[in-house]
Amino acid sequence: MSYDTARLSREYPRILRDALALAKTLAGEGKKVLKTDLFNETQNLPIKGGIIGNIEGGIYAIEINRNVVNKAIRMGFKNVRQGDIRSLPYSDNEFHAVVDLSTIDHVAEFEMVLSEYNRVLKVGGAVGIIYWSRDEGGHNKDFFYFPREDFVAEANKYFELQREWILYEEISLLRALRGYTGVKK
Ligand SMILES: C[S@@+](CC[C@H](N)C(=O)[O-])C[C@H]1O[C@@H](n2cnc3c(N)ncnc32)[C@H](O)[C@@H]1O
Repeated sequence: MSYDTARLSREYPRILRDALALAKTLAGEGKKVLKTDLFNETQNLPIKGGIIGNIEGGIYAIEINRNVVNKAIRMGFKNVRQGDIRSLPYSDNEFHAVVDLSTIDHVAEFEMVLSEYNRVLKVGGAVGIIYWSRDEGGHNKDFFYFPREDFVAEANKYFELQREWILYEEISLLRALRGYTGVKK
C-alpha cells in the first residue's frame, strides 16, 4: 500500500472538519455528547481544539492516557475524564450522542465498546464512529483493523444504521478509514 504522507497531511484536516460537522450535527441544541479520546484536542493539529474545543458546552470526553487527560485539563477543557471506552464511567442512557473518531480501533474488543456505547446512549441517541477497517489491509501497528462486515454486524445489533461510508477513496492510505452512523434502537 502506498503511503503518501504529503497528501495525508493535506487531507487530514478534511477528516477533522467532517468529524466536527458530524459532532455538531449530533450535538444539536442542549444535547449531551460523548467524544472518545482527547488526541486531536491536545495536539497541535490543523483544527485547533479538535472536536471539543469547537463546540459550545454539552461535550464530555473519555481518554485512557492520563498525560493526555492532564494536558486537556490544563488547556481548559471541561468534563474530561480518564477512563477506558471498554468500561465507561457513565450511567445508562446518559448521552444523546457518542462520537468516536478512531478510538475504537485502538482496542481489539470492539464488541465490548459498541455494547458500552449502546448502554450510555438514550434510545434514539446517535452514534458516529470512524475506524480503520481490515478490508483494505492494515499497515499501522497502532490500530486493530477489524473487518468491516464484523464491525457493522455487531453495530447493527444495537443501532439502526443511518449511513456507512469510506473516507476519501481517492487516497490509498485513507481508503481504509470507514464511517458508521446509527441511532440506538
Ligand atoms: C492516536 S489517537 C487516534 C486518533 C484520534 N482519535 C483523533 O481524533 O485524531 C487514539 C487516542 O485514543 C486513546 N485511547 C486508546 N485506547 C483507549 C481506550 N481504551 N479508551 C479511551 N481512550 C483510548 C489514546 O490514548 C489516544 O489518545
